[in-house]
Amino acid sequence: MKIFLAPMVGRTDKYFRKLVRIISPNIVLFTEMITVDSLLRGRFKEYIVKDVEHPVVVQLAGNDKNKFIQCAEIITEQGFDEINLNIGCPSSKVVKGGFGACQIETPSQIAEYVDAIKSNTKTPISIKTRLGIGYEHDLRKIIDFIDQTSNAGCDIYYIHARNAILNGISTRKNRSIPKLRYDDVFKLKEMFPDVKIFINGGIEDIDQIEEMLKIYNGVMIGRKIYNKPMFLAEIENKVFSNSKTFTIEEIVCEYIDELDAADTVNKLFALKHLTNLHKGTGLSKRWRKHLHNLINSNEPIDNLKNFYIENYNEEKKEIIC
Ligand SMILES: Cc1cc2nc3c(=O)[nH]c(=O)nc-3n(C[C@H](O)[C@H](O)[C@H](O)COP(=O)(O)O)c2cc1C
Repeated sequence: MKIFLAPMVGRTDKYFRKLVRIISPNIVLFTEMITVDSLLRGRFKEYIVKDVEHPVVVQLAGNDKNKFIQCAEIITEQGFDEINLNIGCPSSKVVKGGFGACQIETPSQIAEYVDAIKSNTKTPISIKTRLGIGYEHDLRKIIDFIDQTSNAGCDIYYIHARNAILNGISTRKNRSIPKLRYDDVFKLKEMFPDVKIFINGGIEDIDQIEEMLKIYNGVMIGRKIYNKPMFLAEIENKVFSNSKTFTIEEIVCEYIDELDAADTVNKLFALKHLTNLHKGTGLSKRWRKHLHNLINSNEPIDNLKNFYIENYNEEKKEIIC
């Protein structure tokens, strides 16, 4: 039984992953999507996975077999636990580049990438995709896609339970349109008993997670966790039976204390993902203001902790779990 943090560009960077891991020792982390070109050219390849970060999956996008092979070798050295191929991104920029959701249409090419990566590294490989392209509910394309890529050696699929609309609507709208089709993900699970199929899309409360876990061995969650990170404490408590009790203050202090000096240079990067930590509590508005003021001041990052001196009585009431 697994819970996965969905990959989210601009969100699941090393800072947010650090925060998530403090609250949830059990969740499987995903990086943001990175293209093979950015990985080969940029600084990401210098990143080394820390022991506490495991398990963590890196998500790659691209359409060049040799670059996938080179990236897979680097990723293995970095210590990631799984290589995930993004075959679901509907962004027009990504589609113009010839990768993302449009690759559902080229299963034999993706099967070749899977085969090439598998032949060159021992790191497990997985695919994150959608149910299809456009407004059609026909599953034939995704069935053929899973058929060919699983024959090439991929045995883990994360399925966002809706199609991708590649023209006419924005990437953002593609996360709520078209409608979710959980039944169709179930059909795929029934059709491919030898591969692991994990479900994603619109999962927002514990009851829903528990229902899904009766069918699937794992559930992937994105926006709910970003918009309310303390939902993870509920997941730990109710899904993983983790009885650890902690306050948001303790989480913040641990987060700040564990930042490397180099990570504190850009306060915006280091702190922006903490914005929603107090969401749903009486301190939410004051917290966001405190964070905003600190980011825009010359004060050291450690001063974030002063929030709890100033709001001592209120914070103590916010014991989690
Ligand atoms: C801001 C944002 C960025 C995203 N970036 C990625 C990405 O890099 N790779 C990917 O496969 N999906 C990406 N997604 C889609 C999510 O992984 C997930 O499939 C989608 O949000 C549905 O899950 P949810 O309803 O639990 O949020 C992104 C979603 C959001 C909200």
